[in-house]
Amino acid sequence: MVNETTGTGCETRLRLLRAVEAYGGEFASGEELSRKLLVSRTSIWKHMRVLRAQGYDIESHPRRGYRLISCPNDLSSLEVRKTLSCSVFGCDIQQLGRVESTQQEAFRMAQRGAPAGTVVLAEEQTGGRGRVGRSFFSPRGGLWFSVILRPPLQPQVCLPLSLMAGVAVVEAIRSLTKLPAVLKWPNDALIGGRKVAGILAEIVAETDAVRFVILGIGVNANIPADDFPAELRTIATSLEAELGCDVSRGKLLGAILENLDRRYSDLLSLGAESVFDAWRRCPNVLGSRIKVHSVNELVHGLALDIDVDGALLVRTDDGAVKRIIVGDVSINE
Ligand code: BTN
Repeated sequence: MVNETTGTGCETRLRLLRAVEAYGGEFASGEELSRKLLVSRTSIWKHMRVLRAQGYDIESHPRRGYRLISCPNDLSSLEVRKTLSCSVFGCDIQQLGRVESTQQEAFRMAQRGAPAGTVVLAEEQTGGRGRVGRSFFSPRGGLWFSVILRPPLQPQVCLPLSLMAGVAVVEAIRSLTKLPAVLKWPNDALIGGRKVAGILAEIVAETDAVRFVILGIGVNANIPADDFPAELRTIATSLEAELGCDVSRGKLLGAILENLDRRYSDLLSLGAESVFDAWRRCPNVLGSRIKVHSVNELVHGLALDIDVDGALLVRTDDGAVKRIIVGDVSINE
């Protein structure tokens, strides 16, 4: 029996898919595939059956072998994993339909022991969660996912992790779409001053050790401008609205996971400063006049830099420098 969901069955299918694709639409014989993958021809046949059930159109011919005709929805987990070379992120991609929140689903999986790097992806969220207890509009067409992490770090790693995610998202949007996305501290992605992506890092920790972190990422990918509720229309946008056409959510997810993998490995080996440097190098709001709604105060000033712990440094109009640890930034026009 072929393992349908995880582990070696899934790995073999990935290798099989890459191997068949390498034939560029020509037939690959069962014998060649079985030699390349070091599995029996019966096993190849069984994996092909599973791939077909997952939406791959594969023609088979008794003498010529197998030929890949078409692939399913580009957000299918094998389609995304096929392109990844990550060591941690995307080791397992759980693709769900309509859920309340991928944060909640990932939390449950993490508690049951799901490994670091597991991605929980949904088509739609009915109760998407934003920062500071807000709700997050997440209809069909967007890219909504959460990643389970188990960093061998102290609980205060949360801010570097969410800054790191912001960099990964902005870099992926810029390289894939060429749109001028910028980072707004701590981790929103903006295009033309409107929010296109948001990040929520939730941590489960004992006093001095992290049990796990759920890193939630939401990108307004293929959402028509008119679908945003009235209260979001002037402050939010989508990649589709900016580009005038759809983006491949699978490619976007792949690019974000690759960036996260690289940045996370730097964070673990080089420390948080590597994240802060990457954040500074990514186009951002530093140098702009901003307004920050912080705990019990409203701060106006110039966004100067990020501090050694990731806090935002703002020069206020009276010349003082304020450190912002939690707050909502808006850019003054
Ligand atoms: C924010 O901008 O306030 C953070 C938004 C985070 C949204 C993502 S979408 C995937 C994951 N699931 C959620 O419920 N929230 C995060």
